[in-house]
Amino acid sequence: MIHYDRRWNPISELCDVYGSDKGQVRLDDHPYDWPAHTYADYYAMLFNHCREHVENVFECGLGTNNPEVRSNMGIDGKPGASLRVWRDYFPRAEIVGADIDEGALFSEPRIQTFQVDQTDPASISGLWEKIAHLTFDLMIDDGLHEFHAGACLFEHSIHKLAPQGIYIIEDVKALDLKAYRSFFKDMPYTVDYINLHRPGMGVENNNLIVIRYNGISDGVKAINKAPPESANGLNS
Ligand SMILES: C[S@@+](CC[C@H](N)C(=O)[O-])C[C@H]1O[C@@H](n2cnc3c(N)ncnc32)[C@H](O)[C@@H]1O
Repeated sequence: MIHYDRRWNPISELCDVYGSDKGQVRLDDHPYDWPAHTYADYYAMLFNHCREHVENVFECGLGTNNPEVRSNMGIDGKPGASLRVWRDYFPRAEIVGADIDEGALFSEPRIQTFQVDQTDPASISGLWEKIAHLTFDLMIDDGLHEFHAGACLFEHSIHKLAPQGIYIIEDVKALDLKAYRSFFKDMPYTVDYINLHRPGMGVENNNLIVIRYNGISDGVKAINKAPPESANGLNS
């Protein structure tokens, strides 16, 4: 558990600049009217030391301001806010975004976006066909925030994660954590369930799942599986 202490970090500052609710330094004057998450605090811990080296970032969920679309950011929302945060924070990275709402799509230097429905395997595969040459150092699911949608996007996208990459599912509801635990149980990944505390924000509202390849090389596996010395007859 990480407790929120309002320490400055560059990602929170960029969230204030562009209007993403992943973090905040200012406490008011945001385009959304709820307290920001504190994901930026955790992301700064993960990436501050290597931000110059991140090459490709993917995020599902641009932040539409169309109130008819589920999981929207409200009518004052700024579509693309978090993609701009990533572009500025990772100075060498290309940023790819995707969203179900075509009205939220845009392109800017180092940012390209595509339409996708993360509940539809064919739609996700179609997205990856368009950018088959890319793998990602960071992949973030900030889309529909429901278990079935998160599981579907993960299953059909994890092959796009670079070998040392990190895949993060945001806004995981407390009830969905249990479903995700059984979903990941037999998969060959290291999966961390992160609950960030912020005063005034319920514990069900600030959860991340952070997934990595489990990083055990074949060499280490071979050492772990080697028979004990006694089994080789050395101690007999
Ligand atoms: C919370 S907003 C993303 C906020 C943005 N990442 C930010 O930090 O500024 C969630 C987005 O998910 C999109 N979304 C909802 N359902 C989706 C689906 N089935 N597939 C893909 N995107 C979806 C919504 O259109 C919305 O833009």
